[in-house]
Amino acid sequence: MDTHVVAHPLAAALLTTMRDRRSSNPAFRAALRELTHMLIYEAIRDAEVEEFDITTPVAPARGVRLANPPLLVPVLRAGLGMVEQASSLIPQSQVGFVGMARDEHTFEPVPYLESLPADLAGIPVYVLDPMLATGGSMVHTIELLAERGATDVTAVCVVAAPEGVAALENSKLPVRLVTAGIDEGLNEDAYIVPGLGDAGDRQFGPR
Ligand code: PRP
Ligand code: URA
Repeated sequence: MDTHVVAHPLAAALLTTMRDRRSSNPAFRAALRELTHMLIYEAIRDAEVEEFDITTPVAPARGVRLANPPLLVPVLRAGLGMVEQASSLIPQSQVGFVGMARDEHTFEPVPYLESLPADLAGIPVYVLDPMLATGGSMVHTIELLAERGATDVTAVCVVAAPEGVAALENSKLPVRLVTAGIDEGLNEDAYIVPGLGDAGDRQFGPR
């Protein structure tokens, strides 16, 4: 699997704000928005463009636009904090939704919402979820996408655990990973260490 860790001092500083337990909910959300900007910027770097004619105030010129804008899929709740920034960077993108909550005891994903186009053949898909822990939620989401014909999926995550990266690799699903960091591992509650805690609670408060 192709894994890209965005190494940039500004990304590292934003990730630090998100990790810091003293950061308020608004500060955490603001840092997530800014970091999403950088992750998407890197994720779309090699996207195909098509040329078209424009006229500047001075002369005719050739312009470019994305040949194949992606579908953005935030995984609720925590991925909601990434979608506004991603769609403002890629205004032509459409948005689908998947809702999933991890069972506290088994750590298995429990899906509760699925709102996706029926046919995803030929459409790049960016799954937005700040946390890749066991990988269960991401693998389940990509399975939903693959059932609809998606063959080009990018997991856009703030922090990943090696266990989650391995789960994506072992799934053999058509996915690449763009993240701001790969941490040490998981604790006994399947939280990423050092991680940043519960990304949903830190944006929106406890469930
Ligand atoms: C978090 C996170 C991922 C999932 C990652 O969601 O946003 O979706 O956990 O864990 P995994 O890799 O072990 O599956 P959570 O279930 O806490 O729901 P929330 O976003 O509603 O808080
Ligand atoms: N979900 C989170 O929000 N944080 C973790 O560390 C693991 C799963």
